[in-house]
Amino acid sequence: MKTCFINIKSLNGILPKKVKNLRGSEMSELKAIENAYLIIQDELIFDYGKMEDLNLDHFDEVIDIKNKMILPSWCDSHSHLVFAKSRESEFVDRINGLTYEEIALKGGGILNSSKKLMETSEEKLFEDAYIRLQELEKLGTGALEIKSGYGLSLEGELKSLRVIKKLKEVSEVTIKTTFLGAHAIPKEYKEKREDYIDLIINKMLPAIQKEKLADFIDVFCETNYYTPEETDKILKAGINIGLKPKIHVNQFTSIGGIQIGIKNNALSVDHLEIMTSKDIEDLKSSSTIPTLLPSCSFFLGIPYAPAKELIKANLPIALASDFNPGSTPSGNMNFVISLACIKMKLTPKQAINAGTINGACAMGLENKLGSITKGKVANFYITKPIDSIALIPYYFGNNQIETIYLNGKKRS
Ligand code: NIG
Ligand code: FE
Repeated sequence: MKTCFINIKSLNGILPKKVKNLRGSEMSELKAIENAYLIIQDELIFDYGKMEDLNLDHFDEVIDIKNKMILPSWCDSHSHLVFAKSRESEFVDRINGLTYEEIALKGGGILNSSKKLMETSEEKLFEDAYIRLQELEKLGTGALEIKSGYGLSLEGELKSLRVIKKLKEVSEVTIKTTFLGAHAIPKEYKEKREDYIDLIINKMLPAIQKEKLADFIDVFCETNYYTPEETDKILKAGINIGLKPKIHVNQFTSIGGIQIGIKNNALSVDHLEIMTSKDIEDLKSSSTIPTLLPSCSFFLGIPYAPAKELIKANLPIALASDFNPGSTPSGNMNFVISLACIKMKLTPKQAINAGTINGACAMGLENKLGSITKGKVANFYITKPIDSIALIPYYFGNNQIETIYLNGKKRS
């Protein structure tokens, strides 16, 4: 089935197949064709070009999009979509002056979500996560990484990972799965943390390998969570069963997590709100993608990651949502892009590149997604009638999406 979209005001995010990500000054350009056509064949992008060069023969369907724009779908490379309940009481505690860390030390935070997840059935977890996923799809997300990490027990982690597997089966959104058993130390292991790490390495990872439940491995490397040495040990065990590292580092403190990530050839290091000049320098000699989560900074009132400095250091930054019930109860990538422009001072083009091709690369999906490229999957959205792509971040809290195509299929 061949479909041709005609009269596209601008077809944005065009890249040659060989481009894996955009770094430094390359991020300033969002390649576009004005007054364009786009041809898709089944689930793939077949061709594109200028309207004046189009031969309209032999299409099963021709869709006149009447001077609207097309952009590649968002590639959100960091989320905790599978969780049991919201945590609005902690939100109110923070308004009243407590910090995220203080709430966690009182038994709130991740441990709070873990307790709730253990009380919730796999079916209910799936139902709730699927509703969230459908909402994200309507907001333009075409690929999503989802982490476990609220189970914190063999049973709880496998339950979460099986929910993600089911989401993969039913959704048109491309999903990648990350095992985050090392998200916190469960209460009962507080005095014997090495036993919990043994459980991760000797029980959880073999079960995950047997059922092929994950693509990546994550650790929350942070003061009061996992040390760099523990992170190293857990990552190595994950790598041994074929999982690539993608890790939480430098959210509140810089304790060496970035260097552990680089050493283990991590696909990405995520958060980076607190960075030293050495952290930035060390990233320069790696292929690890620095992934920034501005909605988390917004919600917790913590510093924003130094996006401009990272770009100046010629790095390929990605932007992602971090959707989770504690630090970021929103998976809206349009808002992420707005915040990146407003608070991190990225240009709209830099932010869009960070939320598309670089996000795809941070999930190992750069050969399939993240740009308008011949042979890539036809995941894109048609905008409302807007005159400039800068209006996408400008209308913050809103979105400029009218119609969505995933895998070549019209979704809404
Ligand atoms: O990325 N920082 C660690 N994990 C999540 C928050 C988890 C939670 O509070 O439930 C994050 O911000
Ligand atoms: Fe996170």
